[in-house]
Amino acid sequence: MIATILDEIYKQKEVMAPDGTRRAAFPASLPLQDGQALYEAVLGTNSTQTLEIGMAYGASTLFMLKAVTENGGGAHVAIDPYQDKWWEGIGRSNVMRAECADMVRLLEQPSYLALPRLLSENARFDFIFIDGNHRFEFTLVDFFFADRLLKVGGHIMLHDAWLPSIRKVLSFICRDMGEQYTVSADYNGNKQAGVSFWHCFLKTLHTAPFDLLSAYFFSQRDFNRHCILEKVAECDDERRDADWTYYRPF
Ligand SMILES: C[S@@+](CC[C@H](N)C(=O)[O-])C[C@H]1O[C@@H](n2cnc3c(N)ncnc32)[C@H](O)[C@@H]1O
Repeated sequence: MIATILDEIYKQKEVMAPDGTRRAAFPASLPLQDGQALYEAVLGTNSTQTLEIGMAYGASTLFMLKAVTENGGGAHVAIDPYQDKWWEGIGRSNVMRAECADMVRLLEQPSYLALPRLLSENARFDFIFIDGNHRFEFTLVDFFFADRLLKVGGHIMLHDAWLPSIRKVLSFICRDMGEQYTVSADYNGNKQAGVSFWHCFLKTLHTAPFDLLSAYFFSQRDFNRHCILEKVAECDDERRDADWTYYRPF
């Protein structure tokens, strides 16, 4: 059933509202190639406990559920404060139509409230997809909590990594959290050097002219539209606080 609904979204380019009427699936839903990359990453990392921030019509939810099911089953949490207000409950309805309701918990709250709630419940995840509010400060807060909710060995996927706001978060992670996170070699594009690096660097810099570091980190790989990071170590809050004047531009 998941495949039927994904076909509806990507072949007919429509989603069905709970009353049977149809809506355009795009531009709200993630592009097919990004959905496939998400599916392959969740599947390939054997993830069974997954979290997404930003559900909309549920396209990413279905890709993640498909992989979790193929990994033997598990549980998925989706966070979206506007599921009813903006998306007419279509994401929730798609999950029910896919017969996956028993695997999914939907938190209809802004992520800055839902993520600390999950943390206080001691929830832990194998894979977290960040695709909510795309402003820099929202994405950084999402990453901050996602890091604390992610198991060591787990993965975080930042969607729309080409946006200046998102690649600034990527730049922060690469500069400041290099001991905890690596850019996964398995699930991102190839490394770039020479002409392809400079081409990407100048194109990237053009959209945010003073952001040299974020353009540099973004241009190291052919990231395309997303970046997948692997957590290799836990962040030690006390050790980080001991060096309380520390700051590294990003
Ligand atoms: C680009 S859409 C997500 C698309 C979806 N992942 C998909 O694959 O089709 C961004 C989503 O973020 C949600 N959103 C906006 N502000 C948010 C917040 N503060 N916390 C969590 N989600 C938020 C929006 O309601 C919207 O569903």
